[in-house]
Amino acid sequence: MKTRELGRGGDQVSVVGLGAWPIGGGMGTLDESESIATVRAAIDNGITFLDTAQAYRTSETTLGKALRDGYRERCFLATKVSRGYSPDDVKAAMDDSLRALNVDHLDLYQVHSWRNDHYPIEATMEAMARVQEEGKTRYLGVSNFNAAQMETAYGFAPFQSSQPRYNMIDRDIEAEDLAYCETKGIGNLAHSPLGKGLLTGKYAPGHVFDTDDERSNFPRFQGDLFARYCGLVDRLQEVAADLGLSMVQLAIAWCLRHQAVSCVLVGAKSPAQVEEHLGAAEADLSEEVVLKIESILEDTPEG
Ligand SMILES: NC(=O)c1ccc[n+]([C@@H]2O[C@H](COP(=O)([O-])OP(=O)(O)OC[C@H]3O[C@@H](n4cnc5c(N)ncnc54)[C@H](OP(=O)(O)O)[C@@H]3O)[C@@H](O)[C@H]2O)c1
Repeated sequence: MKTRELGRGGDQVSVVGLGAWPIGGGMGTLDESESIATVRAAIDNGITFLDTAQAYRTSETTLGKALRDGYRERCFLATKVSRGYSPDDVKAAMDDSLRALNVDHLDLYQVHSWRNDHYPIEATMEAMARVQEEGKTRYLGVSNFNAAQMETAYGFAPFQSSQPRYNMIDRDIEAEDLAYCETKGIGNLAHSPLGKGLLTGKYAPGHVFDTDDERSNFPRFQGDLFARYCGLVDRLQEVAADLGLSMVQLAIAWCLRHQAVSCVLVGAKSPAQVEEHLGAAEADLSEEVVLKIESILEDTPEG
């Protein structure tokens, strides 16, 4: 598995990471033993980066079980504070996460999103710095912050990484945020790289998602808009086939073409899904292919 530096001077991490939101049940209920097998398949195949969050339902607890028997020592473990950002919230969330994950420290602790209505970011970041000083996490990170928000937060506690949404159909961060991170030496962890399944190419218009799957509530996965996305992905799938890649692999490799991306966090529900992700780490997209994809993406609905 190829690795990249997580921000300037940071650890080397696998370019493909495992996103642990699906194993928490947010995209449909999963069997716990299958989830544990998924996590272990990722680590056994050289994926070192694991990402979860306080808010990912049962994800931290299931990960904690998967990381027994020596698996914890083989990975770079990241979680997030999600439910409240006061200093007391940060402190309590950290201790809850360590307990759920059954570990004595994290590798990365991230602020899940910029929700600064009740507490100034200064107080949140200072609390983050405190849990780092206490040895509970090696690095700090933020998620879903834009460049201006990162600049403000960085002034109170320097952090190593940013975790933005980034995939072929969600590209807002290309305007400013990626360049900001490159200048500052902040690594990027691309989340939702498969557009939550849309970029797998396996869905057809009219597909109905179960009510326990978050996608049953997302406009993008309904009706005419969903059909238009499926049409776009059909065209991208032809590019993938010409390269001998699956659509899933093309979508991950496309994120990795950007050097500001340290690791692509891909959600998976089974060992077989994880195994498909591995091939993306080896795929190098030529400039010609990137341009071809660019011309197809000009027709992105809502783009
Ligand atoms: N910071 C944030 O606010 C934030 C937000 C979202 C996600 N994240 C992080 O980013 C990670 C990735 O995002 P995500 O899990 O939401 O979505 P994603 O990676 O874009 O899509 C994951 C889903 O795609 C399908 N899939 C995955 N591999 C596949 C394969 N090989 N073949 C066919 N289908 C496949 C699976 O669902 P189906 O099989 O049911 O289609 C899977 O649950 C998360 O797990 C989480 O760690 C962070």
